[in-house]
Amino acid sequence: MKATERLSSGIPGFDKLVQGGFKEKSINLVVGGPGSGKTIFAVMFLIEGLKKGEPGIYVTFEEKKEKLYEDMKSLGWDMKKYEESGKFAYLEYTPEQVKKVLIEGGGTIDSMVTNMKAKRIVIDSITSFSLLYKEELAKKEAALALFEMIDKWGCTAVMTSQDTSMKGIEISTALEFEVDSIVILYHEKKKGVRKRALEILKMRGTKVPNETYGLKIDKNGLAVLTEKMKF
Ligand SMILES: Nc1ncnc2c1ncn2[C@@H]1O[C@H](COP(=O)(O)OP(=O)(O)OP(=O)(O)O)[C@@H](O)[C@H]1O
Ligand SMILES: [Mg+2]
Repeated sequence: MKATERLSSGIPGFDKLVQGGFKEKSINLVVGGPGSGKTIFAVMFLIEGLKKGEPGIYVTFEEKKEKLYEDMKSLGWDMKKYEESGKFAYLEYTPEQVKKVLIEGGGTIDSMVTNMKAKRIVIDSITSFSLLYKEELAKKEAALALFEMIDKWGCTAVMTSQDTSMKGIEISTALEFEVDSIVILYHEKKKGVRKRALEILKMRGTKVPNETYGLKIDKNGLAVLTEKMKF
């Protein structure tokens, strides 16, 4: 039996923790508090694909294009250049527009993914989208419709989710159970100093470590450290 293809995440130190990377066509959730590195993680995932000739799309509800491009430029990534090459697209949506796409199908995002032959898609973040639905059941249905669409496109997805709770993580159960993997980014205070860490809560069909690893962000972006953290 052929093993599922794995896609390199583009995050140094991450792939070796998860048998080589994200599963092809999987839906992956990256959860973390403000400034924990969610956007950097997601963009590095797209850039890894771009380097390999895999087109990618970044969908957002809240990040402004100019600001995002500027922030990424400071990390050495020229998103404008990628965009001009036709292999990368930035799409700003209102959650209502996505809701419409889910109900009616098609739309800009659908034709864009198809025309570009996108292989990687990022939704940064999914939080405002899930806030559109009040009932858990409606949330679950919407999440499933979204995941089905991504599956139809044949893309591998990274979705970020904002975690505002102080202790532990709180994800909408609708998303929690439906995604293939959950990665948690921490930026916690210990003895007066904030430390970054990463944990893989789950990844279907993959042996994952039980430990939480140190994480760093510097001029080259995110990297998982070998140091294990006691949280
Ligand atoms: N060159 C750098 N060196 C060190 N840290 C950096 C550097 N560039 C960015 N950072 C840090 O990365 C963090 C931002 O990461 P990112 O934008 O990915 O977080 P986020 O989880 O998406 O945040 P938000 O919830 O606001 O969207 C900031 O806290 C910033 O301090
Ligand atoms: Mg962000």
